[in-house]
Amino acid sequence: MLENIAAMIEEVNKFTSTNKDEIETFRLKFNGKKGILNDLFEEFKKVPNENKKDAGQKVNALKQAFQQKLDELKTATKTETISVKEDLTRPGFPLELGTRHPISLVKNRISDIFKSIGFAVADGPEIEDDWHNFTALNLPEYHPARDMQDTFFIEKDPDVLLRTHTSSVQIRYMEENKPPIRILAPGRVFRNEAISSRSHCIFHQIEGLYIDKNVSYADLKQTLQFFTKELFGKSKIRLRPSYFPFTEPSAEVDVYWGLNSETDYRITKGTGWLEIMGCGMVDPAVLQNVNINPDEFSGFAFGMGIERIVMLLHQMGDIRMFFENDKRMLEQFKSL
Ligand code: PHE
Repeated sequence: MLENIAAMIEEVNKFTSTNKDEIETFRLKFNGKKGILNDLFEEFKKVPNENKKDAGQKVNALKQAFQQKLDELKTATKTETISVKEDLTRPGFPLELGTRHPISLVKNRISDIFKSIGFAVADGPEIEDDWHNFTALNLPEYHPARDMQDTFFIEKDPDVLLRTHTSSVQIRYMEENKPPIRILAPGRVFRNEAISSRSHCIFHQIEGLYIDKNVSYADLKQTLQFFTKELFGKSKIRLRPSYFPFTEPSAEVDVYWGLNSETDYRITKGTGWLEIMGCGMVDPAVLQNVNINPDEFSGFAFGMGIERIVMLLHQMGDIRMFFENDKRMLEQFKSL
């Protein structure tokens, strides 16, 4: 074999493939356990001493040529894999698109309905002071109605708290803007309540506020009727007398859902009426607190829990689902 080394070196130098399998076969042919280089070393051992120098040089020359070729192949195949990565014509991996959360979907639907009649969306902080969450809303210190909304306090004296409703946004907006005012305040609110299928310590509200000259209770009722017709396709509503410190008179809004409790588990009491929100005429004391003259302006406000509306619209029975974000639940809203 030793006498064929020149031909072998030529074979090595001539090898040009970038095919992985061919390169591997080539490598094994020369450098495998039973490859040419090992055979040559075996043969070299038997060479008589006086010829060893010459034979050794020949074997080394082959070994060097082989090593150099391997190095070349390595860089060649490396650039090949890089160019494969950059091949822009290759089809992409399928990207899984996420879904919008049902809370966001319904919040957007409600906002769109009110936007269509001139309401704008307003925003405010989730961490509030006592003035915007309570006092300005006609809930002075020690007012028993403060207990209506169990509060998470962050600091005491002066109080810093997590807002219990988005009515605080309405105060902030009225402090900065003069009537006419037509705003919606959607957002996250917090109450120190036990978590169950019906209530959670975090939930979402959307509140509305309309202040102008001569705004009446009839305007409130018509606006809500328009809203329930747009959202639920139902316009039969009733306003049941209620109490909120910041509105006078105050009411709960019920929508007539129907009487078929056999097919619709949302109707439990068999009356057909479902409560969807609170509302009322803004109390003159609230207007005074934000320097709006109650003799010149009047207005109405309303507020609803978004989770409750989603549960009604989509027949969901447990409020905790909105915060667990199980993909099996979210994926059901893919088409919306
Ligand atoms: N802020 C009230 C609540 O969270 C809802 C409401 C808003 C009621 C506006 C009347 C008017 O319970």
